[in-house]
Amino acid sequence: MSITVESASRLLSEKGYLDMEIPKGTDLISEINKLRKEKNAVILAHYYQTGDIQDIADFLGDSLQLARAAEKTNADMIVFCGVHFMAEAAKILNPDKKVVLPDAKAGCSLADSCSGAELKAFKEQHPGAVVVSYINCNADVKAESDIIVTSSNAEQIINSLPKEQKIIFAPDKNLGRYLNEKTGRKMLLWDGVCIVHEAFSMEKIARQIYENPKAKVIAHPEASKEVLNLADYIGSTSNMINFVSNDPAEEFIVVTEEGVLHEMQKKAPHKKLIPALVQDESCSCSECFYMKLNTMEKLYLCMKYELPEVTIEENVRLKALEAVNRMMELSKNIK
Ligand code: 13P
Ligand code: SF4
Repeated sequence: MSITVESASRLLSEKGYLDMEIPKGTDLISEINKLRKEKNAVILAHYYQTGDIQDIADFLGDSLQLARAAEKTNADMIVFCGVHFMAEAAKILNPDKKVVLPDAKAGCSLADSCSGAELKAFKEQHPGAVVVSYINCNADVKAESDIIVTSSNAEQIINSLPKEQKIIFAPDKNLGRYLNEKTGRKMLLWDGVCIVHEAFSMEKIARQIYENPKAKVIAHPEASKEVLNLADYIGSTSNMINFVSNDPAEEFIVVTEEGVLHEMQKKAPHKKLIPALVQDESCSCSECFYMKLNTMEKLYLCMKYELPEVTIEENVRLKALEAVNRMMELSKNIK
């Protein structure tokens, strides 16, 4: 099939993503490098992307680091290898830049669990509450929020609010419950979960601990309470990566999305990393299905055709920007 901008756009509107054939023998790495130069594009990738995408990115990071990289870039086009809400966050910060992502269907169970209208209705039931939303939400939810947080800065930002302040936390109930414990707050929690972190099995991880007695368990706070109870260390993606590099232990059971092991192993090549087991071992549930929709082929096509492009209504963007800027301001000191 010959690929034209028209056929790309048609496929995009019919299917929501680009899946055109690429001529056999195409050297994707060199083509992506050429396009990056020609178009003055920057490739930002989350640690949950496949290893090949992580390796070709200009900047690899967790949600907070990627939002900051998006804020600073001088590129004309931001190619966001992550999920849709992350690319949207880049667009909120960069209205004049083109933001594309390899697969527009790369969503998120947390973002899907809460709409702007639903959050607005919930706010109306709780007048006076400050709305703190996890960055894993869509732009309309950000627009209904007062402050955005990521797993790297949530505890600090919540602690900066007056003790008696009523707070709504959306949309991750696991992270919200964990933060309630850490900060001594009684935030009202939205009922959303990350399907990846929710899939880990307490019983199977307990067995892994028994079989690997020297291993430390490290977990992302999106996991359930029972699973977090087994952890020696709980932290955001970048904090977990740093922990493995800096801690004297030689073995770790890693309770988060498996893509993170790529960077962890690069930074600590001699350490043994054991992916934590999920309840249903017949599925690859510890991989985020949405994140893995992005492939090198789609990355190449999206850079070539500058599609799928992320757009946000300006009134929604401006309201969402206020909440994102509050986060940036309140977490300036976090590395
Ligand atoms: P962080 O990158 O902030 O650790 O969040 C993890 C995550 O679930 C991203 O979707
Ligand atoms: Fe969403 Fe969970 Fe996937 Fe992150 S890992 S994008 S929170 S579904």
